[in-house]
Amino acid sequence: MSAISIRKLVKVYGALRAVDGIDLEVAEGDFVGFLGPNGAGKTTTIHSITGLCNFQGGSMRVFGLDVVSDYRKTRPLIGLCPQEFNFDPFLSIHGLLVYQAGYFGIPKSVAAKKADELLGYFRLSEKRNVDFRKLSGGMKKRLLLCRALVHDPKILILDEPTAGADVELKYQIWNFLEDLNKKGKTIFLTTHYMEEAERLSRKIVIIHKGRILHHGDKEALVRDQSLEKKYLELTREKADD
Ligand SMILES: Nc1ncnc2c1ncn2[C@@H]1O[C@H](COP(=O)(O)OP(=O)(O)OP(=O)(O)O)[C@@H](O)[C@H]1O
Ligand SMILES: [Mg+2]
Repeated sequence: MSAISIRKLVKVYGALRAVDGIDLEVAEGDFVGFLGPNGAGKTTTIHSITGLCNFQGGSMRVFGLDVVSDYRKTRPLIGLCPQEFNFDPFLSIHGLLVYQAGYFGIPKSVAAKKADELLGYFRLSEKRNVDFRKLSGGMKKRLLLCRALVHDPKILILDEPTAGADVELKYQIWNFLEDLNKKGKTIFLTTHYMEEAERLSRKIVIIHKGRILHHGDKEALVRDQSLEKKYLELTREKADD
């Protein structure tokens, strides 16, 4: 059974077809790199799967369950590390992890322990009692990861998790994701870094103007010379001198 199954997904904003009828299968345990230029529809696709936005056409299943009619069952199966920071500023970072776990019915004592474990792993323990506004940009990124994982989801969806991360954090996140994937988590990763997609992913999906341009094994993509021609847009600028 697929971990994620998307059929003919359409999401429009007024006249704009941000996602224009995409089909996508993600096998359980796979590691998928989701690539595409700014505005291609990556975040919109992710938000549709996770219920953060509605959509006008198509359907999506998570482990066979419809994300709209069975949302109570599908939401706990997914952990989302979003592109933007959207934390509650009135809770300590430890408190907001415990609060997040509460959405999934995890008892406070269990959640508090898990929160400390994650904060420790991501070197945020000394900040556990402050609110997220007092964190640096990279620390906020790490907190997004902690929050995505606090309820131990089967699928992890990451929307540019290493954007703005320093080199050390980038490698830490990579190692962490590889390890999680080895332990069986399905990972769906959006990135603009080819190096990242190449190192981590087994499958690569490329979206452009709301349509899937390529979906396949990473190795096949690297061999596919024609893709470069399809995907690369060249612009010529007028030289001043
Ligand atoms: N809330 C919104 N209202 C109107 N248009 C939107 C909204 N959110 C996104 N869009 C538009 O939908 C298109 C796809 O945006 P999306 O955020 O999915 O792109 P993306 O692939 O994630 O890009 P990036 O790499 O910049 O994060 C863009 O043209 C964007 O302007
Ligand atoms: Mg985006």
